[in-house]
Amino acid sequence: MKQAIIVGASSGLGWELAIQLADKGYQLGLMARREELLNDLSAELPGNHFVQVTDVTQAELAQQQLQDLITRMGDVELIVLSSGVGLFEKKLDWTVEREMIDVNVRGFAALAIVSYEHFVQRGGGHLAGISSVASHLFGGLTLTYHATKAFVSNYLAGMRSRAARTKLPITITTIEPGFVKTPMVQGNPVWMAPVEKGVEQMVKGLIKKKNHLYITKRWRFVTWVLYLMPQWLLRKFV
Ligand SMILES: NC(=O)c1ccc[n+]([C@@H]2O[C@H](COP(=O)([O-])OP(=O)(O)OC[C@H]3O[C@@H](n4cnc5c(N)ncnc54)[C@H](OP(=O)(O)O)[C@@H]3O)[C@@H](O)[C@H]2O)c1
Repeated sequence: MKQAIIVGASSGLGWELAIQLADKGYQLGLMARREELLNDLSAELPGNHFVQVTDVTQAELAQQQLQDLITRMGDVELIVLSSGVGLFEKKLDWTVEREMIDVNVRGFAALAIVSYEHFVQRGGGHLAGISSVASHLFGGLTLTYHATKAFVSNYLAGMRSRAARTKLPITITTIEPGFVKTPMVQGNPVWMAPVEKGVEQMVKGLIKKKNHLYITKRWRFVTWVLYLMPQWLLRKFV
């Protein structure tokens, strides 16, 4: 049986990913802070699954909890890091910035390392991290979120390069969503995709072991346009 762990499975993309992977026969390890939601999700899925509570801002403890879950499950071949926080910064506030840095950067890197080392020891495997199209762009009202996602995309690109040197079959997938309808997204921004559609594209890309996924695919085009625009013009919009 194929086994996968989703960190950030209690909501949004992680929750829907659990549903779609379980449908494809995966046995799952579900991680996040909200235990009740993880238990509800586990009960909803076909088959037996594992729940492990974690708060990724407690980076070293979260590393131990991920390692323990890997050991409990047996042979995990896919780990998806979906945990993330996106907060508006009308007024610059260190408490708000620190939460995003703690979850999206410190927590992310801490668990990416454990995942990578697991796949090296296993002789192969697949790590996917959810970054954002925001990684390609600065944001005046969401500057920390954009900067943390630039870290995620850049870190995963480096990890892909490192993995290639091992000559082991290790895949590193960078997932960059635009807008997908989840509790994180406020309002109704342009080109918002239903979560089911976004995750369907994600699952197809994961199965094909793609290095890079834009969710939905049209955001690849947006990213190209963003790189062509001069910064003075971008500053008028973001
Ligand atoms: N939706 C979009 O349009 C969009 C676009 C670009 C990128 N993304 C990225 O996609 C990922 C998933 O976001 P989403 O849209 O699914 O948002 P969401 O519904 O708010 O889910 C966020 C997930 O992160 C987990 N999380 C937050 N803080 C955590 C912590 N300290 N420790 C452990 N887990 C924590 C939450 O679980 P608990 O609260 O239970 O801990 C939850 O499962 C994020 O990385 C986000 O930045 C989303």
